[in-house]
Order: sequence, then structure tokens, then C-alpha cells
Amino acid sequence: MALLELKNLNKKFDISANSFFAKEEDKLHVVNDLSLSLEEAECLVLVGESGCGKSTLAKLVTRILDCDSGEIQFLGEDFLALKSSKLREKRKAMQMIFQNPFSSLDPRFKIFDSIAEPLRINKAQEGFPKNEAEIKDKVYELMSLVELDPVLATKFPHQCSGGQNQRVCIARAIASKPKLIIADEAVSALDVSVQWVVLKLMKKLKEELGISFLFITHDLAVVKFIADRVAVMYLGEIVEMASKDDLFKNPKHPYTRALLNAAPIPDPKIRDRERFFLEGEIPKANKIPAGCAFHTRCPERFEACSQEKPILKDLGDEAKVHCVSCLLYK
Ligand SMILES: Nc1ncnc2c1ncn2[C@@H]1O[C@H](COP(=O)(O)OP(=O)(O)O)[C@@H](O)[C@H]1O
Ligand SMILES: [Mg+2]
Repeated sequence: MALLELKNLNKKFDISANSFFAKEEDKLHVVNDLSLSLEEAECLVLVGESGCGKSTLAKLVTRILDCDSGEIQFLGEDFLALKSSKLREKRKAMQMIFQNPFSSLDPRFKIFDSIAEPLRINKAQEGFPKNEAEIKDKVYELMSLVELDPVLATKFPHQCSGGQNQRVCIARAIASKPKLIIADEAVSALDVSVQWVVLKLMKKLKEELGISFLFITHDLAVVKFIADRVAVMYLGEIVEMASKDDLFKNPKHPYTRALLNAAPIPDPKIRDRERFFLEGEIPKANKIPAGCAFHTRCPERFEACSQEKPILKDLGDEAKVHCVSCLLYK
């Protein structure tokens, strides 16, 4: 059984001035019939250009936003049916880490208290510290787990660096004993050298604690480092999903190929070879093209692409799962 399963999720945003008179073109269809599943101790990376709906999807999964339709199964339960106390209980198992650690932390809290807060909320519950003395031990244990110098415990967020604060956010998330961490561009705001330290830390937590990650990024170098499996998103849909190795070695969807092609190549000998870029702009989410949503920019489009909508399906190699949504593979 999967840890998390999303089935046919949809979300539209109404951008009309008066929702009573809203027309179809006043609605941004940001998440479009999206399905995916995540196993225990797996890192699934969701990659796609800015504006394709990644953050909205994360907010639907965590129920920060309500979806218009679809199903979410988490830990074997209908997550959308959960109410108040039951929802709070299950939400502990699903923690979120955001791009900007400064805005995720309370500026009035010392680092110690930021990490202690979830422990205090869950005090004396099964598996959590029973009193302040045990909470103190646990805070320092968590700080050591995320490789934070214990002297930082008495500092405030503004006295720490971005990388240190992001580690505080990670320690806070781990304190609730999650099964799943949803990390939305969690390293994008950090300096490149610090990015790698934080990414390594998350990989370690996945391996040592068996936590699953839904990791959202637009950065292919990050995908390469952290992913077990990759889902490529375009205009609110998943267009291709495969293991990391398979996706990088054998990309199938023309959009995935374009993404991989557009990534900077560090080797100067091949940097100047002919590079391929996509034509045109990403269509607006209130005017998603008919047929395949990507056909307006696709270098391999043919007649049927503007009429027939492809569905995400497995290519049928028995040895591996590699799903693609493209009429080339019909
Ligand atoms: N609350 C909102 N109201 C209206 N439009 C929104 C809202 N949140 C996001 N959007 C729009 O939805 C689209 C997808 O946004 P987002 O999920 O943040 O994309 P990503 O994280 O992939 O960059 C964008 O066009 C964005 O402007
Ligand atoms: Mg985003």
C-alpha cells in the first residue's frame, strides 16, 4: 500500500472581479486531474517551470487549500474526510518545509523554543517527551541530527544564517515524527554551497529515519541529487513519471527532453554544442490549449496533438514503470 496516493486532483482559481459573473476564462486551472503515489521512504521529486502548479499541489496535499475534486489517501485513510482533531493528529505525520525559512519561524522565538514547540504540543503523547527535562534532551538530540551547533539554541532566527534556519525548520518538522515531508523549493533561497549541505542532510534523514519526501523544485541539479523517482509537471498535469535514472537516460516526453536540454552544461567542451530551446511562452492556465496542453510549443507535434488529449500511461516495459502522456507513444 502506498503512503500517499492522489487521485484525479483538480484545482481552479477564480480570477474574476466578481465571482458571480465568472466565465470559464476567469478560471485558472492550476492542478488538472493529477494522480500520483508515493511509497514509504521514497523521494519523489516534482519538477516543472515556475507557475505550473507545484506549490498549489503541495497546498492541496497538506489541506492548506481545498481541492475542487479528487481523492487523497494518506496512511491508508481518506485524508479529505478527516475533521478537526483527527486531521490534526494525521497532519503531524505530514510536515511541510517552505522556501523561506525566515518566514516559517517565529522571530520572537529562540531556536530552542522553535524546535521545542511541536514537542510541547505533543507532550506526553505516545512516543513524545513527557516533561520539560525530556523535551530539552530531545531538542539537543534533534539539533545534533540536523547538524546544528548547540550554541545556536539561545539565538534568534535573525542571528542565524539561511542554512541554519532551514535546518531549524527541518528539526521542527522531524520533531513531530512525520512519515512524509513535503519540501517546496526548500533549498532554492539558499546559497549554492549551503544548498548541498541541506540536501545531503535531507537525504540522510530519508535513509536513517525512513521518511518519504515529496520534493518540489525547478532545479534539475537538485533532482539529480535527491530523487528516487521524478514527476515532470506542465500546466498542472504530470506529463512524465519514471525512476530518476530512467528519466535522465531515457526521457520520452518532448517537454522533458526540452527541460533536460535547457539545463546548463558545466563541461565547456560541450557547452557550445547546439542547444535546443522551446518556442513560445507557457500558455496561461485559463487558456489551456485543447488536445495535448503542450502541443503549442512542442517541436514534435503532429496533427492529432491539437485535438486528442493524451493520458498518462505506462510504456509497458515489464522491468520498470515509466509513464508518459504523449501521443507519440500511443
Ligand atoms: N491563491 C491564488 N489565487 C489565484 N491564482 C493563484 C493562487 N495561487 C497560485 N495562483 C496561480 O496559479 C498558478 C500556479 O501557481 P503555483 O502553484 O504557485 O506554481 P509553481 O509553484 O509551480 O510556481 C500561477 O499562475 C499562480 O499565479
Ligand atoms: Mg512554487
